[in-house]
Amino acid sequence: NEQKPTIFTIFGGTGDLAARKLIPALYNLFLDGYMPKEFTIVGLGRTEYNDESYKEVLLDGLNKYSRSGVADPAKWGEFSSNIIYLQSDASKEKTYKDLEQIIADRDEQWAEAATVIHYLSVAPQFFPVISEYISKIKMAGGKEKCRIVIEKPFGRDLETAKELNELLQSLFDESQIYRIDHYLGKETVQNMMAFRFANALFEPIWNRNFIEHVQISVTEDIGIEDRGGYYDGSGALRDMLQNHILQVLCLVAMEPPVSFNADEVRNRRVDVLKAIRRFGPEEVKHNAVRGQYAGGWVGGKEVNGYREEKGVDPNSNTETFCAFKFFIDNWRWQNVPFYVRTGKRMHQKSSVISIQFKDVPHPIFPSHASENWQQNRLIISIQPEMSIRLQVQAKRPGLDMILNPVDMVFDYDGTYPKESPEAYETLLLDAMEGDQTLFMRGDQVEAAWELLMPVIDNWEGRKSLNFPNYPADSWGPEIAEALIAKDGFHWFTMPVKSKSKKK
Ligand code: BG6
Repeated sequence: NEQKPTIFTIFGGTGDLAARKLIPALYNLFLDGYMPKEFTIVGLGRTEYNDESYKEVLLDGLNKYSRSGVADPAKWGEFSSNIIYLQSDASKEKTYKDLEQIIADRDEQWAEAATVIHYLSVAPQFFPVISEYISKIKMAGGKEKCRIVIEKPFGRDLETAKELNELLQSLFDESQIYRIDHYLGKETVQNMMAFRFANALFEPIWNRNFIEHVQISVTEDIGIEDRGGYYDGSGALRDMLQNHILQVLCLVAMEPPVSFNADEVRNRRVDVLKAIRRFGPEEVKHNAVRGQYAGGWVGGKEVNGYREEKGVDPNSNTETFCAFKFFIDNWRWQNVPFYVRTGKRMHQKSSVISIQFKDVPHPIFPSHASENWQQNRLIISIQPEMSIRLQVQAKRPGLDMILNPVDMVFDYDGTYPKESPEAYETLLLDAMEGDQTLFMRGDQVEAAWELLMPVIDNWEGRKSLNFPNYPADSWGPEIAEALIAKDGFHWFTMPVKSKSKKK
């Protein structure tokens, strides 16, 4: 930990993300001794607060959402003495003059000039104006001491992503730009790299010779909550697939990097995106499906269908579910299908990767033909359960030679009972330490959009289509079952143990 003096500005400081994730993450880093000795957090927003009333709102959020539970008054007092509120309009020059002054005061007071991290947790139309202004802020330590963290959505298609990249890269060096994808900060997602590249056991079989197919399934039980305005212009493909799921897929499929250096790792990740087979009209028809949730019952309560949700066009064709079959055209993955799916209002919140290995070459046990037979499978459960399970066949005790699939399990709860850090803790600390490994580089974001544009264009061109609906609390539309069933497979679902309260 560098422990350099740091100023953390949060544009959108009064927003949901700040209260739910950013402040709790910074507070937990503080509790664990990871915050620099000298730091200031500046929350920016339009609402009228003073420092004290702003801190009260943050404390409320912290008590509700933090993994560390209700804040200890003394610790919170110490932490929050470093928070100030700047009531401001992000499109006015005055805001940045005020910020410049705040930075100058700290630079003068602290032994070393501060690293300034600007976190843009605002609607994307504000990205350009804020980045233009902050690039002009004069700082004692020089412009290189500033970093900019950009929340999603990073563009809404290839063109807008390119425009934003061009603008940011004209104002900052790529090493100052942190495009955040919170999935990359999740413990289990990060562990994918450790698991693959720190063990000699798996790499030799991690290819088309041994792996039959891969599934990545990110299902949510919630609907779109109060985000209709945003979601209806976005949809499952843009909201989850373009970023989170493709990034996870990259970690599963990437070649070993030569080192754990940020650019080496990101080079290998972007290689995967470039190698994914392109979608022509035939592939869109056969390998990409979408759906929208209908109303129904969840936990004894009646819930709205998507088109009845607040902020949603009653004739909306925005997808709340999508499933894809991808192929990666390189040596390692030739002809290995990667099935991915994501959706809202599904039966269970669960993010899970399933890697199914090929069957034994020659069956010698009678139970091979039974429905109990399960080819070897590696199940990486990202959430809510955090575990890695290797499913193998083993003999059931008894006089007969009967085989059953059993799990060899690495379970985070059992092995590491202390709760793992939240994704935002990991990522904010990385941003403070200047480590970009878990952030997306400009070319990665563009490669992901480029891959999906033919699907987006095709889907948007067929707007009058009547959507394949799926009832709330289901596993999605039937066509998603068909997508995988036609190849002889089924979607893997994690047996539910307990419901996690964490989002
Ligand atoms: C966000 C999406 O990026 O990820 C949300 O905008 C989604 O729609 C959320 O609910 C899911 O994140 P997690 O960490 O709960 O899986």
